[in-house]
Amino acid sequence: MSDVKLPLTGEAEIDRIHQEEVERLRNLLEELKSGSDTQIGEAFEAFIAHMDSHFSYEEDLMQGLTGYMMAELHKGEHYKVISDARYRLMQWHQFHDRFDLEDYLIYEFTPWLSQHISSMDIPMASLVQTQERE
Ligand SMILES: [Fe+2]
Ligand SMILES: [Fe+2]
Repeated sequence: MSDVKLPLTGEAEIDRIHQEEVERLRNLLEELKSGSDTQIGEAFEAFIAHMDSHFSYEEDLMQGLTGYMMAELHKGEHYKVISDARYRLMQWHQFHDRFDLEDYLIYEFTPWLSQHISSMDIPMASLVQTQERE
């Protein structure tokens, strides 16, 4: 997982947050290899908390934009993904299935994040930059 390369938005703070999220993800995957169930649960909670502040940051940013037509769709994707992650956390606490959690993180969450940055975050960031210049 050390090779996760996310697309850059060009907005320094958003890119920093995305990088930080990958760090949390790496940490969780590390715990999945060698940590205890409690350590995994904590790393998963930290990962979700980060996701929550990441999405809030972007949603606050959208509020300040004029004519951003994708706001509802963008927020909708955030909501869907964090709800799913919370459901996975619940399942983790119930079953402690390491294989299932790793599978979700690598094959569902990571490709989603990369795709979401390209389709949602990058167009939003370029609108932010245009409007900052005005
Ligand atoms: Fe983002
Ligand atoms: Fe986003």
